[in-house]
Amino acid sequence: MKKIIIEGNKELSGTIKIGGAKNSVVALIPACILADGELKIKNVPNISDKDALIEILNLLNVKVIEEEGTLLINTQKTENKVINEKLSNKLRASYYFMGALLGKFKKAEVYFPGGCNIGSRPIDLHLKGFEALGAKITKEDCKYIIETKELKGTEIYLDFASVGATINILFAAVKAKGRTIINNAAREVEIENIAKFLNRMGAKIKGAGTERIVIDGVKELHSAAVSVIPDRIEAGTYIIMGALLGKNLIVDGINPNHLKVVLNKLKEMGINLKINKNQVIINKANKLKAVNVRTSVYPGFPTDLGQPMSVLLTQAEGISQFEETIFENRMGHVPNLQKMGAKIEYERQHATFHGPTKLKSAELIATDLRSGAALVTAGLIAEGETIINDADHILRGYERIITKLSDVGAKIKIIEV
Ligand code: EPZ
Repeated sequence: MKKIIIEGNKELSGTIKIGGAKNSVVALIPACILADGELKIKNVPNISDKDALIEILNLLNVKVIEEEGTLLINTQKTENKVINEKLSNKLRASYYFMGALLGKFKKAEVYFPGGCNIGSRPIDLHLKGFEALGAKITKEDCKYIIETKELKGTEIYLDFASVGATINILFAAVKAKGRTIINNAAREVEIENIAKFLNRMGAKIKGAGTERIVIDGVKELHSAAVSVIPDRIEAGTYIIMGALLGKNLIVDGINPNHLKVVLNKLKEMGINLKINKNQVIINKANKLKAVNVRTSVYPGFPTDLGQPMSVLLTQAEGISQFEETIFENRMGHVPNLQKMGAKIEYERQHATFHGPTKLKSAELIATDLRSGAALVTAGLIAEGETIINDADHILRGYERIITKLSDVGAKIKIIEV
């Protein structure tokens, strides 16, 4: 495992370039097997989730050439294989191969997906979608076998606007016979990125980014290219760090429209941001107003920024209320922040912050990707040396985080233990 060590309270000044969105690329990569041909994905972030998915493509005899942020993927000789537990447990997004293999071969055999331990994270909505399209699902210990003679378009109603289920059903429906409608679909911007890629392959998808997506099945999908949209969660994380330590910190290469609710919340706290076309310039705020934060589906406050945002709430003057509404176990950062001196009362997914409290350095444990990002944020403002164990979680979704932060003045390093 890796360990991150931070010498806190260093001003952050300069430019941080944001990479492609993890939550797009983890779906764009499996999507490639739906087409027969040469697929190109540009602006690919250098994160371990991407490497894990390429391993799965290699298992399926898909040729992948990786050139400086671009993936060239040749799917002409794709073979349908069982995706074993070792590979699928590396990340939850391995479940996208269920929809992609089902859509391509009408059969998928995939072990239980891995990913962050932020709750049970069932996949019942994905499976219900596959069944609605005509697939039969059997479970053999930890493996799902999903197959059908024919995928037939139908009207689907998602009980919850699940990002994963929306995308997985898209994959299964693009080559189904007839029309599929997904009602109560997730509206995250990453879904538009994926639908654009599929449409460039020849799919017929309308309404991506809204709660009603209409897919007309086609026979074949062909070569196409797509660019991964900027990572709004990576961007939001660095913007929050800038609110705490920035001196004209430029967070560049982003689409501010994807972060409207977050930028608005920061303004509510009294933070002065300069929002340009593809960047935000941010300065440390002298005084932070207490606010209430409640995560929700897009376009609400993203659950993935709830944890880094919590660090900001420890520095706000007064009482801030925080409510996580998407996952049932996403407060792993709170005991760590309390250990650093933060005054937080919490029960299940609700926390009350009393601020401002000076955070002191400590030895911490990252429980998942975004709690890890919160601990880095806390370590950056704490006096002294903070150690974050199990730092591998963080590398799953933040490309070159050590370099990006060091280049703007942070004293941060990562060591193998
Ligand atoms: C995606 O997870 C993202 N992951 C998550 O980012 C993100 O937090 C989440 O969407 C919400 O925006 C990827 O894109 C790889 P959901 P996903 O399906 O698809 C329940 C990060 O840190 N649910 O919208 O798993 C589920 O338990 C990660 O980058 C069911 O009950 O999210 C959860 O409580 C974390 N049954 C809620 O819905 C299902 O079949 C949200 O899940 C599916 C989901």
